[in-house]
Amino acid sequence: MKIAVLNGSPKGMTSVTMQYVHYIQNEFPQHALKFINISQRIKKIESDERAFQEILDEVKGSDGVLWASPVYYFLVPANYKRFIELIFERNVESVFANKYTACLTTSIHFFDHTAHNYIHAVCDDLNMKFAGSFSADMGDLRKVAERERLGLFAGKFFETIENKAPTSMSHMPVFRRDFDYLPGEARDTVDAGAKKVVVVTDSQDHQLNLISMVERFKASFSSDVEVINLHDLDIKGSCLGCVQCAYDNQCVYNDKDEYIDFFNTKLKTADILIFAGAIQDRYLSSRWKMFFDRSFFNGHAPSLIGKQIGFIISGPLSQTPNLRQILDAWVEIQLANLTGIVTDEFGDSAKIDDLLQDLANNLVQFADSGYIKTPTFLGVGGKKLFRDEIWGRLRFPFRADYLLYKKLGVFDFPQKNYKMRIQSAFMSLLSKSPAFRKEVNKRMKDEMIKPLQRVIEG
Ligand SMILES: Cc1cc2nc3c(=O)[nH]c(=O)nc-3n(C[C@H](O)[C@H](O)[C@H](O)COP(=O)(O)O)c2cc1C
Repeated sequence: MKIAVLNGSPKGMTSVTMQYVHYIQNEFPQHALKFINISQRIKKIESDERAFQEILDEVKGSDGVLWASPVYYFLVPANYKRFIELIFERNVESVFANKYTACLTTSIHFFDHTAHNYIHAVCDDLNMKFAGSFSADMGDLRKVAERERLGLFAGKFFETIENKAPTSMSHMPVFRRDFDYLPGEARDTVDAGAKKVVVVTDSQDHQLNLISMVERFKASFSSDVEVINLHDLDIKGSCLGCVQCAYDNQCVYNDKDEYIDFFNTKLKTADILIFAGAIQDRYLSSRWKMFFDRSFFNGHAPSLIGKQIGFIISGPLSQTPNLRQILDAWVEIQLANLTGIVTDEFGDSAKIDDLLQDLANNLVQFADSGYIKTPTFLGVGGKKLFRDEIWGRLRFPFRADYLLYKKLGVFDFPQKNYKMRIQSAFMSLLSKSPAFRKEVNKRMKDEMIKPLQRVIEG
């Protein structure tokens, strides 16, 4: 069988992910895996129609398609996403329709599931036959058990194609309502005082709802609001995955384009940040994705700590819960506050006006009071995963992260809590006695609330 492997790594064949595909090829020499570099060649693919057509021809002539990519910021790299956009923009979905497909990623398992959800949803939108996905840790190939697992996955993928096995879809098509937002006048504006408010948008001329929502939001303030369009910034390209920033946060693009300066001088100095964009396929645009990927020069450290963050989204956010989860998680990982999200998917123009004004009011109120919501599992889990990685195998090369984590007190391993450890050991020993266990069971509920009651009673 012939399998088209769409390589999402900007590193081309010097990619961790591609080593996993090489392994599959070695294990299954009876099948021909055709490696196609997508992310690394995106500029050529986008500008040269022949290059794009060659890829389509490979897909057309294949029995299956393997989406093989690193996970970048909860998703796939920006360039890979751009390729997906091109498929829809150029109306060539039919080339992919009814092809068997699977997804393989490498990562450190930080939001690999949202990347997989995204690819699966795109495959469903393309009417492909999704046969499964495999998320490898970037070092898994060195382990016998993991190699075996990968072999079983690949074998099952080939078998599914050979047997023409049925596959089920997981995502309903997204419904977009036809609605023109007509903003009303802002009457009760809010004054942000000394707080710096910055809106970042990627709106383009045809995106009238998005443009109007940003304008109406801006008009909600009596004080200054700076609006920056990502398309007006000179951004030479997306993250190359070279990891040269790991030592001291110095990106290879540094002063070659405007991104780093923009991030450091506009975003890091703001108190209130609004990100505005339109849903494109199952995420925002690839321009927005480029924004997120390039922020990797900050490493795994939060770079927008304590900021109030809002989103203005044009499009069906409620039908793309995966994107919603990504936005929630990204803000939590930043140790910032997601003040609110306004979309144009529900309600009339007056309702959206009210929501935008309310968002502006809340952003200012929370910026004044310093309110940051408690993180959920997304932020707590993510922080612990990064903590362990930066303490352990990623300490080198991510020296800048290590130093900052130390400073911020991120290395809060429970191992150092000696009182708790002695207490636990002592109680575990006692719990070998049935009489003690009986007493514990009797008092468990009361003992759990006792320390809290002491706080309430002062
Ligand atoms: C810009 C950037 C963003 C990343 N984002 C994530 C992420 O969100 N989750 C994760 O687990 N790993 C993330 N990684 C780690 C890569 O997924 C991992 O190193 C992968 O194995 C690289 O594969 P490649 O060599 O094929 O490009 C990121 C790496 C880079 C450079």
